[in-house]
Amino acid sequence: MSQIAIAPGRILGTIDRKVYGGFVEHLGRCVYGGLYEEGSPLADERGFRKDVLALLREMRLGVLRWPGGNFASNYHWTDGIGPKDQRPRRPELAWGGEEPNTFGTDEFLAYCAELQVPPYICLNMGTGTLAEALAWVEYCNSARNTAWAARRRANGRDDPYQVRYWALGNEMYGPWQVGMMTAEEYVREATRWARAIKMLDPDAQLIACGETGLTEWDAVAIDGLAGLADYYSIHIYTGSDDYWTNLLQPHQAERAIAATAALIDRTAYMRGLRHKPAIAYDEWNVWYRTMTVDLAERYTFDDALAVATYLNIFVRNCSRVRMANLAQLVNAIAPVVTTDEAAAVQPIYYPFLLHARAARDAAADVHVEGPTVSPELPEGASRWTHRVADLGPFTLVDAAASVSADRRRVAVTLVNRSPDAADDARLVLREFAFADPVTVTTLTAAGHQSQNPGGPPALPGLAAVHLAIAEATAHGPVLALTLPPRSFTVVEAPIGPA
Ligand code: AHR
Ligand code: AHR
Repeated sequence: MSQIAIAPGRILGTIDRKVYGGFVEHLGRCVYGGLYEEGSPLADERGFRKDVLALLREMRLGVLRWPGGNFASNYHWTDGIGPKDQRPRRPELAWGGEEPNTFGTDEFLAYCAELQVPPYICLNMGTGTLAEALAWVEYCNSARNTAWAARRRANGRDDPYQVRYWALGNEMYGPWQVGMMTAEEYVREATRWARAIKMLDPDAQLIACGETGLTEWDAVAIDGLAGLADYYSIHIYTGSDDYWTNLLQPHQAERAIAATAALIDRTAYMRGLRHKPAIAYDEWNVWYRTMTVDLAERYTFDDALAVATYLNIFVRNCSRVRMANLAQLVNAIAPVVTTDEAAAVQPIYYPFLLHARAARDAAADVHVEGPTVSPELPEGASRWTHRVADLGPFTLVDAAASVSADRRRVAVTLVNRSPDAADDARLVLREFAFADPVTVTTLTAAGHQSQNPGGPPALPGLAAVHLAIAEATAHGPVLALTLPPRSFTVVEAPIGPA
C-alpha cells in the first residue's frame, strides 16, 4: 500500500508544453513512407499522410524537432527547397540511405502549421557552414528584402515562419556523428555560430549540444556556452529485456538532469550570468532492439510504463527541463507506425497521449511512501551503459502531479511497476480537498482483450493496450484507489480548499 501526498500549494515550477515535444528525422521510414508519402491514397495533396496526422494531432505536441539527429550533420537545406523535380538526390551518411530531398524546409514548416506545433530545427555543424546556417535562418525568419527571404517568397511563402528554436548541431561529441569535434572545438565553433545567429535574429533560441550532464564534454561545453545558449541539450535512451532494468533505467534521467543543472548553476555562479540555459532533453525513449537501418522497434507494454516514468520525471523537474522530445514519432523508434494501407499505434503512444492531455499548468510537490524495490540489476543487461542500481531503492509506484494556474484542478500520473501486485494506494491532498467528479484512467496490458479498445487499432503483430475510464469517489482530501500491477493511472479532479 502506497501513500501519495500531493501539495497543490507547493509548486515545483510551471510546465512548459515543450516537454511534450516530438522529433522526426530523415531515417528509415519516419519521413518518407511515414508521415510523408506522395501519391498515397492516404495522403493529402501535399503528400502528408492524413492518418498519421490524425494520430499525431491527438498527442498535443508542444514542439517538433527536425531534420535529425545524426542526419542533420550532413544535411544541406538548400537541396530541399524549390521545385521538387529539381531537387538533388544525395547520399545519406548517418544511416546509409539516399536522400531524395522532396520533404524539405517548406514541407516541414507546413507540417508543423498543420499540427499547430512550434518547429525546432537542428543545424548542420558537421559538413555545414555558418554561412549556410545563417542563410537558413534568413530564409525562415526574415521579413526584409534580402535574397534568401526573397527566395522563400518565390517558393510561395510570404510571411516569415518565425522558427524560434535552433540547435547548434547534434551529438557533436560522438564518433558516429559526421564532423565529430572535441568539446573545445565545439565551444569555439558554437560560440561563433551563436553570436552570428543572434545578430541576424535576436529572437532565435539556441540549443547547445550536450551529452548527459555527466561527462567531460558537458563540463567544458556548459562552461563555454552557458552565457550564450538558451538551452543545453541532453540525450539518453534506455531499455532492456530485463524487466527491472527496463522499468527503472529511466531514473537515470533524473540524475542526468540534476548533474546538468549543477554544472549550469556552477557556471552561472562563477561567471555571474543573469540568465541560465534551460535543459532541453531533446531525445529520449526506450530503444534497444533495432539499432541500425530503420530502427523499426516493436514496443511492449513494459516499454509504455518506462515512457510514463520518463514523463513523470520531466514534470517533476519542470523548473529546469523546458523541452523534451520523444525520439521519434513515426516508424523509427516510434509510437505511430504505418503500412501502405494504415497507420496504427504502439503501446508507448498511450502514456504520452494521456500525460500530455492531463498535465495542468504547474507541477506540484508529490511524495510517495510505500513499498520499494532495489533489485539486483544484471551487469550488461542493457546496451546502454547508464547505471541505475546505485540510484535505488525505488518506490514501486512512481508519481507526478500538476495543478492548474488557478489551483482548481489537479492531475496525478501514477506508474505501478510491480509485475504482480496491485497497490491499494491512498492519494492525500495537502491543504486541499478533492471535488467531484474524480476521473480515473487506467492503462494496462491488453492480455487477451481486444486490440486498443476505444482507441486506434494496433496493426497485426503489434502489442495492444487496455484503457479503462471510470469515476471514483474521494473523501475530502483522500482518494483510495487500486492501482493494478503493471499499470499507468491518471487521476484528474477539481479541487478546493480543505
Ligand atoms: O534517434 C536516433 C538517433 O539517436 C539520432 O539520430 C541521434 O541523434 C541519436 O544518436
Ligand atoms: O545506433 C547508432 C548510434 O549508436 C546512435 O546514433 C547513438 O546514439 C548510439 O551510440
